[in-house]
Amino acid sequence: MLDQYFTGEKAEVRIGDQVFYLPIIQGTEGERAIDIRKLRSETGYITMDSGYMNTGACRSSITFLDGEKSILNYRGYAIEDLAEHCSFIEVAYLLINGMLPNIVELKQFSRQLNNHSMIHEDMVHFFDRFPPGASPMSILSSMVNTLCNFYPEMTDPLESFNITAARLLSKLRTVAAFSYRKSKGHPLTYPRHNLSYCANFLNMMFDSPVNPYLVDNVLVGALNKLLILHGDHELNCSTATVRIVGSARTNLYASISAGISALWGPLHGGANQEVMEMLEKIHREGGNYRKYIEKAKDPKDPFRLVGFGHRVYKNHDPRCRIIKKTCDEVLAALNMADDPLLAIAKELEEVALHDPYFIERNLYPNVDFYSGIIYRAMGIPTNMFTVMFALGRLPGWIAHWREMWDDPNTRIGRPRQVYVGPQLRPFVPIDQR
Ligand code: CMC
Repeated sequence: MLDQYFTGEKAEVRIGDQVFYLPIIQGTEGERAIDIRKLRSETGYITMDSGYMNTGACRSSITFLDGEKSILNYRGYAIEDLAEHCSFIEVAYLLINGMLPNIVELKQFSRQLNNHSMIHEDMVHFFDRFPPGASPMSILSSMVNTLCNFYPEMTDPLESFNITAARLLSKLRTVAAFSYRKSKGHPLTYPRHNLSYCANFLNMMFDSPVNPYLVDNVLVGALNKLLILHGDHELNCSTATVRIVGSARTNLYASISAGISALWGPLHGGANQEVMEMLEKIHREGGNYRKYIEKAKDPKDPFRLVGFGHRVYKNHDPRCRIIKKTCDEVLAALNMADDPLLAIAKELEEVALHDPYFIERNLYPNVDFYSGIIYRAMGIPTNMFTVMFALGRLPGWIAHWREMWDDPNTRIGRPRQVYVGPQLRPFVPIDQR
């Protein structure tokens, strides 16, 4: 219940000579909010906040994020600890269930994921009908939406929640790998029960009847870290989308499919693909990264330094630090430490971090800046990068959907607006227009 978070204090709103009092809420990490739900009924006013820059849409116990202090915790655990010590599956369990699994729970969860890793053979044929060059994000979103036809939920979606969540976690990975194999025209490699989540994914992507894939533990470890770091990020665009779609009591598959579509955008998850394209372009043009710094700073040029800036982080993105270190480790292990794209990325970062334009606006490299260099080293094609983001973000979306359903304070998401169109005017019949 929201009530336990009321501090008893009131914010005072003065409109003309009238004063209204609004309750104040405080979260467990000291974040404070003014509860404006009754503002309109009491004053006739709504609040304006395009882009929801300063709007709290729910209370949540999943992720705590302090963008000024570079803090990111899942369910009270520091992201640094989770990335260092956990498997992605452990973190997925944590995000969805609120606690880290013990050994028995983890084994049960892994077994459940294995049991649901295949997709219905009729669905496999869908891949044949996408045109060559179809976007893997479009395929992913369509396939996830279609899952509800093959695996219909029971009448009570919460009753079937665990099994639906397990299906999604396991099948999204299979769909992602199959979409890549189909795009190459290669035979499908099915999931294997004896491989870990990340090893299984890499094997489905790259195993071939003529050239068996040797699972590389360095790459498995790096993928594991990347997925954990993408696991949740509170009310970002795609998670807010999952919540708003789910608030209409839409089923989990369709809500996640909408989240995938939101993630696709270049200002959100699509940025990881754009970073790689930007680095490759700079490299092709002879490595003149300073030109791109100047373009990013030019108010008349729409170009932005992709992989830089964040709505919430006004300091270093803690995920980026870990990814940069992992990037160095992976490239060193693969004897690719002299990768020119890594060198360009580091130079761009160095210059930007000392440039007044970026300093004044608190623009730091974000989660997408270095991740693509690791994916590329794994052999994952650029147009699959945002699919990788979706794989990581999935447990967060699932956890938010569930939390929203369980919260008695949830109402259908329905923002207000200030109408600025024409006032009432007489109707004009078509022959007189
Ligand atoms: N390059 C150059 N200038 C920038 C950049 C950038 N990457 N990002 C923000 N700015 C400037 C912007 O022009 C504005 O300047 P001014 O005050 O002079 O008008 C100021 O910084 C504030 O930017 P904003 O657009 O108001 O900030 P926002 O919170 O609405 O947008 C953002 C956040 C992430 C969309 C934006 O920083 C951006 O477009 N970054 C590049 C795309 C990107 O890397 N996206 C991934 C985000 S992290 C992962 C995820 O969420 O999926």
